[in-house]
This record gives sequence, C-alpha cells and structure tokens, in this order.
Amino acid sequence: MAILSPEVQTLFKRHFGVSAARFVRAPGRLELLGNHTDYNEGLVLSLAVDRYIEIAASPRTDGKIELISSAFTEPEIFWSNESKRNTAAPWADYVKGVLDQLRKRGVNFSGFNAAIHGTIPMGAGMSSSAALEVATALIVRELFPFTLTETGVAPPPKRDKQDKLPAFAKAEKLAFAKLCRAAENQFVGVQSGLLDQISSLYGKAWHVMEIDFRSLSVELAPMAGVAIVVCNSGVKHSLVAGHYNELREQCEAAAKTLGVKTLRSADAKMLAANKAKLAPRAYECAHHVISEIQRVIRGAQALRADDLQQFGQYMFQSHESSRDFLKNSVPELDLLVELARAHPGCLGARLTGGGFGGATINLVAHHQAEDFMAAMASQYEQRTGHKMQPLLCQIVDGAG
Ligand code: GLA
Repeated sequence: MAILSPEVQTLFKRHFGVSAARFVRAPGRLELLGNHTDYNEGLVLSLAVDRYIEIAASPRTDGKIELISSAFTEPEIFWSNESKRNTAAPWADYVKGVLDQLRKRGVNFSGFNAAIHGTIPMGAGMSSSAALEVATALIVRELFPFTLTETGVAPPPKRDKQDKLPAFAKAEKLAFAKLCRAAENQFVGVQSGLLDQISSLYGKAWHVMEIDFRSLSVELAPMAGVAIVVCNSGVKHSLVAGHYNELREQCEAAAKTLGVKTLRSADAKMLAANKAKLAPRAYECAHHVISEIQRVIRGAQALRADDLQQFGQYMFQSHESSRDFLKNSVPELDLLVELARAHPGCLGARLTGGGFGGATINLVAHHQAEDFMAAMASQYEQRTGHKMQPLLCQIVDGAG
C-alpha cells in the first residue's frame, strides 16, 4: 500500500468519522519532450514526478458512493450504478468516467466512501486529471479486487500475507491506462492521447520513459544529475473547454491529405512536397508534429549519451515549434522560457503538456537550481505582476 500524506487520512476521518480501510496514490507527470505527438502515434519522453493524487477509501453497504476532496467544499454523492454528470462538481467527472468504464468492462463494485487529496497543481499541465483517473481505478481494485484484460475482466488477484495485491503484469497496466483514457475521451469529452495515463502508471524513479505510441511500448533510460524545475505561468489551461480537440482534428486532417494513417508515417520531405494540398493550419500542425518526433529521437540519443547541453537545445527548439507552428503557447509561457534561457544554470526549457497556459519544464544544473528558482520567481513577478513559486520535482515510480 502506498505511503500517504497525513492530509488524506485526516480528511477521510474528519468527513466520515472513521479511518479509511484502503489507500492509493498516483503521480502526476511532466512531458519532457514530445508535444502533441502521442495521438499521432509519435514518441514522447516523459517523467512521473513527486506530486500525487491520493485516495483513502472504505466500502459501504448502501450502494452509494460519497466523495470528498480537499480542493472543494461540497461532497459529491451518487449511486454506484449511476453515471450522471453534475455541472456543480465537474471534478467528480474524472471519477465517474472511470467508474463508468469499469462497469462497461464488467467490473463489479458497490458503494464506497472516498477522500481525495492532491498535491499536483491543477491546470498546470502536470496531469492532475489523469492521476485522479488512475487513482480511481486503483482504489476500486483495492476495494473490490479484479483483473483487467484488453477486453474485460478475469478472475481477481489474491492478496498476500501482508494484505497486498500483486503488482500488475505489463499487459494489465496498459489495459488500465486505456481504460482511464477512455474515461477522459468519452465521459469528459477531451480527445487526449495516452501520454498522461501511461506516465502515471509506468514511471520509474530516476528514469525517463521513452514512450512509442505506435507500438505502445515504454523503455526506460536513466536520468540523474540535473534538477527538474516547473514554472507555473498561473494561466489556467483547460483542456475540457479547449482547443485541444481542434489541434487533434488538424493533425488528423493533415494525415488524411498526406495519405498516411497518422503523422508518424509522414516525413519532412513528404510534407514539403504536399504543402500546396494542405490547408494552412493543417500544414502548421503537421510541421510541428513531424519535426517534434525527430527531436524526440535525437533527444533520446543525447540523453543516452549523457549530453544534457544538447538535449536542452532540443527542448528550446520544441518550445519554439509549439509556439510558432502548433500555436498552443501563451505570452506568459514564452516569457518563462525567455527568462529561463537567460539564466546560466538553465540547460533547456519548454512548455509542457497540452498548452494554452499551464507550466514550463526546465532542466537546470543542480548547483544552480536554487539561484534559478529565486531568479525566475522575482523576474516573472517583475514582468507580469504575478507571484510564481517554481517547483523542484523528483522523478518517482508510477502507480502501477
Ligand atoms: C495533454 C494530453 C496528452 C498529450 C499532451 C500534449 O496532456 O492529455 O495526451 O496530448 O497534452 O503532448
């Protein structure tokens, strides 16, 4: 069972009057390189980081589910066989969406009480929503054990003498990631790729995940000796409301015109030869995705060769491509990258995640991290009038 912060246990006890029986947690993620490439069957370098969604829960017998979150005042209560959205509690949609998918796959569960506590900043592009989805699927598995397969469920796993459920087999982990993504696609309505859910489940401490979204395989490469700093612009991104689905449509339209299944199968030459056939926005999006996949390939090579200077250059280039071609940056993110670049300790910086607000990820020489964080905080405030507290992140194990 996961080691949890006291907050989630206290929240459960305060709200439900007793201690919780089961606990899980799922980490947030940082997209290190590879912006909007996942749903194009491309490549992404990703990290699970030490900010979590934690859930403490106990079963209940009346068939109701009651959720309380430390981020919202009102609890959300509904029947365990119900999947209705409540516009007053959109945060609960991620939980309900996962429950809906579990039900569709034949997982049997009844009522439960759950307290949710998060340390992942919301709307910062660190995947608090995917972590909530993953934590929900895991807490249901803790409360009502089941084995998930590609197509449904298999006989449940047994707890060991320490009352622990066995770790996932590789294929089951992927099935969990897909289930959580389906919750987001179908219940919440964001046509996101699998990046966030895979990252939250497959992460490994001190390692970068190299994810191939065509084969859905994950390789791990060590990454140490550098500080990872997140600077949150404070501009709330909202994929739900957002332009995200629009970008995806542009990429799909470009692939169709180029005559390939996805942009993974296209290259720069093919794009240049067909420029006249493509609508300007579709061309720009395709240009970003095709060049970004190449940057990930080169970036992975640089990381394996321990060349962080070179890797950082790919990060800067990635940001420029997101800004100029994909057009999912905002002036505050551009400013954060500009300020970071001017700092002598900064190796690379770029926007991370969906974009349209959210945060930047920065690689910084260890011994200069403290100075970098102080400089970024004061300069960002000077330039925008907004306070910003950079976050130092550690790479951690995923939830699976
Ligand atoms: C969001 C989505 C991911 C991915 C990134 C951009 O985080 O949920 O699937 O597309 O944006 O790379």
